[in-house]
Amino acid sequence: MARRRQLYEGKAKILFEGPEPGTLVQYFKDDASAFNAQKKGTITGKGVLNNRISEYLMLRLGEIGVPTHFVRRLNMREQLIREVEIIPIDVVVRNIAAGSLSKRLGIPEGTRLPRSIIEYYYKNDALQNPMVAEEHITAFGWAHPQDMDDIVALTLRINDFLTGLFLGVGISLVDFKIEFGRLYDNDDMRIVLADELSPDNCRLWDSKTNEKMDKDRFRRDLGRVEEAYQEVARRLGILPEAGMRDLKGPETMQ
Ligand code: TMP
Repeated sequence: MARRRQLYEGKAKILFEGPEPGTLVQYFKDDASAFNAQKKGTITGKGVLNNRISEYLMLRLGEIGVPTHFVRRLNMREQLIREVEIIPIDVVVRNIAAGSLSKRLGIPEGTRLPRSIIEYYYKNDALQNPMVAEEHITAFGWAHPQDMDDIVALTLRINDFLTGLFLGVGISLVDFKIEFGRLYDNDDMRIVLADELSPDNCRLWDSKTNEKMDKDRFRRDLGRVEEAYQEVARRLGILPEAGMRDLKGPETMQ
């Protein structure tokens, strides 16, 4: 296989030039980080599972008309995506109090919120991704007011759909983080869901026991991290064909 040009390496993913203009290959690593990369580790098989889980969720969202960057899965750790201009905002949706919301506002973890809350964080590692208001986003031109209208409408639909999908497999969608990008098509521009959707950027609790089934198991040293990611995939009915034995998957060509 030909060597591919690496365009970007993040904490959990690598982006390579894609086979055609306007496409990229997104490679999912097993590396995990938390607290702005102060804590680092490896979750064996995470990349394979997140590739699958993100594929599954983006396809389901595509079916209800949410535009996404996802094109198709290429192999155990890679998917073909459309190249988009990432909007430098992490969009967080919260349904149940947890994490930084509980800490900042003193609301006990597990408190159901009176309604879903959307928060924005400016994607800037040097500034440790500070929380910002829509006013900052539009004033500094990170996104236009029309982009924000699309982002809010899409975010609410994504939250409604994913909440139902996860509840159907016995999982409460506590909160999650998503990113959006601008997809240019000749003179046309559309806001599409980008990045990934996986237990790395969602809080998922067993709906009966409230047991954590997401990256908080890594962040808080709760153990059984790999098993939690596998259980999410198992409940969604999408464990890799080869089963658990093959979670390491093929190495990428670099
Ligand atoms: P938080 O409670 O730490 O603010 O996290 C809210 C949600 O956003 C949680 O599901 C984890 C996710 N998240 C990310 O995916 N990346 C991040 O950098 C942060 C801070 C949170």
